[in-house]
Amino acid sequence: MIFFICLNFSLFSTPVFAQTTIQNIYGRNILSLNGRWNYIIDPYETGFYDYRRQPFDQSASGKGGYYDDRKQTGKGELLEYDFDLSPTMKIPGDWNSQAEKLQLYEGTIWLRRKFTADPQAGKKYLLYFGAVNYEAHVYLNGKKLGTHKGGFTPFQFDVTDKLIKGQNSVVVKADNTRHAEEIPTVNTDWWNYGGITRDVLLAELHAAYISDYKIQLAKGNLKKIEGYVQLAGPFKGQNIQINIPEAGISQVIQTDSTGRAPVNLPLHKMRYWSPEDPKLYAVEIIAATDKVTDRIGFRTIETKGQDILLNGKPVFLRGISMHDENPLIPGRLRSEGDMRMLLQWAKEMNCNYVRLAHYPHNETMIKLADEMGLLVWAEVPVYWTISWQNESTYNNAQQQLTDLVTRDKNRASVIVWSVGNETPVSESRNIFMGKLAAVAHSLDSTRLVAAALEVHRKGNDIVIEDPLGDQLDLVSFNEYAGWYWSDPEGMLDYTFNVKFNKPVVITEFGADALSGFHADAATRWSEEYQELLYKNQFRMLGNISGLRGMTPWILVDFRSPRRPHPVYQDFWNRKGLISETGKKKMAFYTLKNYYDSVMLRYK
Ligand code: GCU
Repeated sequence: MIFFICLNFSLFSTPVFAQTTIQNIYGRNILSLNGRWNYIIDPYETGFYDYRRQPFDQSASGKGGYYDDRKQTGKGELLEYDFDLSPTMKIPGDWNSQAEKLQLYEGTIWLRRKFTADPQAGKKYLLYFGAVNYEAHVYLNGKKLGTHKGGFTPFQFDVTDKLIKGQNSVVVKADNTRHAEEIPTVNTDWWNYGGITRDVLLAELHAAYISDYKIQLAKGNLKKIEGYVQLAGPFKGQNIQINIPEAGISQVIQTDSTGRAPVNLPLHKMRYWSPEDPKLYAVEIIAATDKVTDRIGFRTIETKGQDILLNGKPVFLRGISMHDENPLIPGRLRSEGDMRMLLQWAKEMNCNYVRLAHYPHNETMIKLADEMGLLVWAEVPVYWTISWQNESTYNNAQQQLTDLVTRDKNRASVIVWSVGNETPVSESRNIFMGKLAAVAHSLDSTRLVAAALEVHRKGNDIVIEDPLGDQLDLVSFNEYAGWYWSDPEGMLDYTFNVKFNKPVVITEFGADALSGFHADAATRWSEEYQELLYKNQFRMLGNISGLRGMTPWILVDFRSPRRPHPVYQDFWNRKGLISETGKKKMAFYTLKNYYDSVMLRYK
């Protein structure tokens, strides 16, 4: 008789999808599950499917998958995996940068963390993931919690009735395989870092808790804070106290039967948030059985004709684009130190704005932008040739956009929600992107909605008439005059024909330069070529009457499987103004000098 440890798992477990995530997870009572997780590489998904390709976790026995994390229990039984004896990797952290053989790995890796818990009656427990790229199946103590798709947005599961007193085992099947019908699709110019790339947290809450809130200035109104507070769990209609002590605000609001209380706070004194004065206020939200505090900046952003108005005043967006990648220790940004380094480089360049391309970055990055005074363009990875006619693809894109707005709606630094990048114009794409733009506007009327639009050339005339532009607040587009189109001298013949009377914010231009490679300015890949291109870009772009900002491509060299040139690239895209060793190129200073001059004009 083989004695099985009785694993209490539900048969025919029908996976549930992750819930909408709690607002401000870091302001809660949390246990970090970061650290070293055991992992098993599983290129054939042997731990998920039986030999007839049937998923173990939906089979009659529910046994057999790696997720139930069993130990060999005795004679006769055959277990061909063992987490305890398997290697470990650091979480949060992509797997590509943690083992040589995983650098280009695409597929499934199982990750397991043991932890002890002491669940209390009357409490709610949420298991929260900052991000897993790309598809996650999550199990706790052998029970399936659910699945999530999307490599850059947070998700959570209610584990209140699955946590056990003592040792628990959380297992994640992470799969970064690309698919044509996913978001993004199979072709991207960035490294496909797989795994649990952001924090894993266990939150303990009172059964009735504050699940969500939005506390921001009303659109275009410097004298009113509005929004809402949302309770979850067994609550009755109750009073909620909102305190912003430094602004002299203390107000009691009432929840309705759904636990939602509208926020409407007249303002008397306020230091408005701006890059020059990134003032954050302590905001306390106090309910009967929960209290959460946040640090929130208050500002307005809107457009008026061809101007962008920050707190009612015209602003020029002195920006730079960046990926979520630490160049010095290649891999996804792992910690606040990584993120602060990148944002500090942007500040050194006299930026007041960053384009966090091409996907939602780490929540901590946005909070640092709040603190350091950098405006933010946030984006979902609706990138290039998406499967426009596939309904599940659209639903995925909409979910990722919703999760991004849900997470960052209280961050003063975020001024733009971008619904995509360089997507080829077609009827199905216009419908897809138009719906996404409408959803972005409906989710948040207080911020601008944009995308990197398509351009086309008629001789030397660069025409911007992408129909999507009608539904956006900015005219933003990528143009590679001098690199993909012509050379730095030839680019001066280009003219721009912008068919919209809206602010123009160039989302990308640039050139590759191998740091330390010096030659004449006509020699591609040299720092001198890149420097001349930047100088000529400013001359060329200066002819656009509605020019109100730019985010040249890109702050730092970044890794890409599309860039194999053995001398100049070696799987690095070299358009960075800083090399992967942190060395500033000549064009870094060219851009800084340009921004210094722009700043004088916008005093
Ligand atoms: C494109 C794209 C970027 C890419 C860049 C390049 O415009 O948006 O993701 O890296 O061009 O070619 O370097």
